[in-house]
Amino acid sequence: MLPLLTPGISNRQHITCVYRCGDQCAAPVPNTTTNPYFGDIATEISRRGALRAAGVVALAVGATQVLPRTAAAQGSLDPSGLGGSLDGGSLGPHGTLDTGFEPVAPNTADAVTVPAGHSSDVVIRWGDPVVPGAPEFDFENQSAAAQAQQYGFNCDLAVLFPMDDRDERFLLTVNHEYSTEPMMFRGYDEENPTREQVEIAWAAHGLSVVELASRTTDGGLDPVMGSYNRRITALTPFELRGPAVGRLTRTTADPTGARVLGTLNNCAGGHTPWGTVLSGEENFNQYFGTPGEVTDPARLEQLDRYGITADTSDRRWEEFDSRFDLAAEPNEVHRFGYIVEVDPWDPDSTPVKHSALGRFKHEGGTVHVTDDGTVVIYSGDDERFDYLYKFVSSRRMAPGRGATARAENMRILDEGTLYVATFTGNSPAGEIDGSGAVPSDGAFDGTGSWIPLLTVDAAGNAVSHVDGMSPEEVSVFTRLAGDRVGATKMDRPEDVEPSPTTGKVYMALTNNTDRGVDGNPAADEANPRHTNKHGQVVEITDDHAGTSFGWNLLLVCGDPEEADSYFGGFDKSKVSPISCPDNVAFDPSGGLWVSTDGNSLGFNDGLYSVSVSGPNRGETKLFLTVPVGAETCGPLVFADRALVNVQHPGESDTASIENPASHWPDGGSSQPRPSTVVAWKDGFTGGAGSTGAGSTGAGSAGGAFGSLVP
Ligand code: FEO
Ligand code: CA
Ligand code: CA
Repeated sequence: MLPLLTPGISNRQHITCVYRCGDQCAAPVPNTTTNPYFGDIATEISRRGALRAAGVVALAVGATQVLPRTAAAQGSLDPSGLGGSLDGGSLGPHGTLDTGFEPVAPNTADAVTVPAGHSSDVVIRWGDPVVPGAPEFDFENQSAAAQAQQYGFNCDLAVLFPMDDRDERFLLTVNHEYSTEPMMFRGYDEENPTREQVEIAWAAHGLSVVELASRTTDGGLDPVMGSYNRRITALTPFELRGPAVGRLTRTTADPTGARVLGTLNNCAGGHTPWGTVLSGEENFNQYFGTPGEVTDPARLEQLDRYGITADTSDRRWEEFDSRFDLAAEPNEVHRFGYIVEVDPWDPDSTPVKHSALGRFKHEGGTVHVTDDGTVVIYSGDDERFDYLYKFVSSRRMAPGRGATARAENMRILDEGTLYVATFTGNSPAGEIDGSGAVPSDGAFDGTGSWIPLLTVDAAGNAVSHVDGMSPEEVSVFTRLAGDRVGATKMDRPEDVEPSPTTGKVYMALTNNTDRGVDGNPAADEANPRHTNKHGQVVEITDDHAGTSFGWNLLLVCGDPEEADSYFGGFDKSKVSPISCPDNVAFDPSGGLWVSTDGNSLGFNDGLYSVSVSGPNRGETKLFLTVPVGAETCGPLVFADRALVNVQHPGESDTASIENPASHWPDGGSSQPRPSTVVAWKDGFTGGAGSTGAGSTGAGSAGGAFGSLVP
């Protein structure tokens, strides 16, 4: 059934681990706390924390009803930002997408592969002009000045807003997660990078904002050198807001502690109903190092917990700017690891880092708005044995799209409560043996609690709910706060996203090969496999503004022919094999889409449709695969199009610039280039509303994707 199946052989190459994550999986597990699982202790802490929180701020605890994202419900708030209606579209016949396409066969092609009857094309590549007047890309003659005007490296998050005033024009915002210097620079010497190479890498990080226009001949999208176009890099000024600002964030260059240069390792994210983009600063730890020494035990504990080593960093940036030197500038590292908010509609705006949402390796941040306008942000901390968080706003969203409402909403993430999750299973512990065998009640499922960590009240006062930690400490050392309250150690929380139609929250846990190994925590019902190579997808029914939830595993990924995989109870002989779920997205009908990173089944990563309800619940269908060495990022699924970011094509331990593993997308003998791709159903040539009407999912947009189906 799986001609390419080579169990146990991960597609993820070591070079990717080093440059994307600072090789975190080769380092010791940063979470060495002995958290109790769940149960009495966590419940007691939760109860005490909630009581304390209750004295601080009135939470919208009555807002427990899941908001159906109907046009009427959204219209009452009129939160549509600048992206048109937020209508989630009508449900398909099963309350889910009609996944009528013929699935793509698992493959190792050096190409983007889509189902028969569909086509795809590159939208924009690393090095293509972003800002008007930017030079064309020249691999052999790169410069920092050019890169700062061109598309950055390794695109990840994608958000697409339709433009109100221009038909078939869209504003694309993309993260550039990291640079892979050996693939960018001929003759790169890891021990002795040049200043120009380092400065090019700074410019290749951050985000791009690019206007796109629909093609009239097919479903393609082409960049336009529009007035909103912008590059944000590792040198762009940001405003750091919230409880972190103060003694832990002041530096020599910034005595205020509130003005940070740049954003780093921006991974997934989402968008807000007021038309801004949220982006997660993920593996920021790897950019900091020192030729000096750090000896203070408390500081070493803080650094260790974030996987930061007081040694030479892989990119050696500390040799070129002392702010990356942990000994010389100890607070600079406290200014990264936040949810970032960017307003793509104002190219002169100063982006914000929101410290009220905590500091960890934020995979992303996605939005749910309750029926009373309370804003809830979900965010995973992507590390083995780390936690799931959410932020619940104190204020409600201001209605309307005027400048006043928008300005008010752009402060809404300043005030609220940050929570961390505990998961409890409902099956006997003895039935969770680490093999992945489904327990006797037929499901991996249970309940959970949200434990408050930090509240910022309407007067801006921050209150810690964690014994022995100040508000600024909780904000900066959020992982340590989660440890103290007994949060549940998960198998790498990646993208977490609420469905725009049902409000259910879906979380990708990508893998954790250390589960149950070498004294690390054993399997539990939410993380049910030891040496978990393939990951799982959790479905959460959350009391969004409240403190309790129910959960179950929708998918336990892996080879469908093996006993340790589970596809929601669906017939496993009829599914597309899936491994290492990473990004979660929704089409306008509420259909779930999952993309993968590091597929351990021996074929290229891809984008899958996943049925969440009806008789096909748990069915996976592979819609698109990416080229050799690449990961599928930032999926957006529209009425007639799907967008993906192809990150790190050709990244391979055996490849080099002289001998590339991929020649995608330019073919011939070219170097691989990370790029944004659009796919469409043949015959589609744009048209009014085709890719319009964004939902509050990760930039997914209106209409019914069913029209993409044959
Ligand atoms: Fe950048 Fe957790 O993936
Ligand atoms: Ca159970
Ligand atoms: Ca990711």
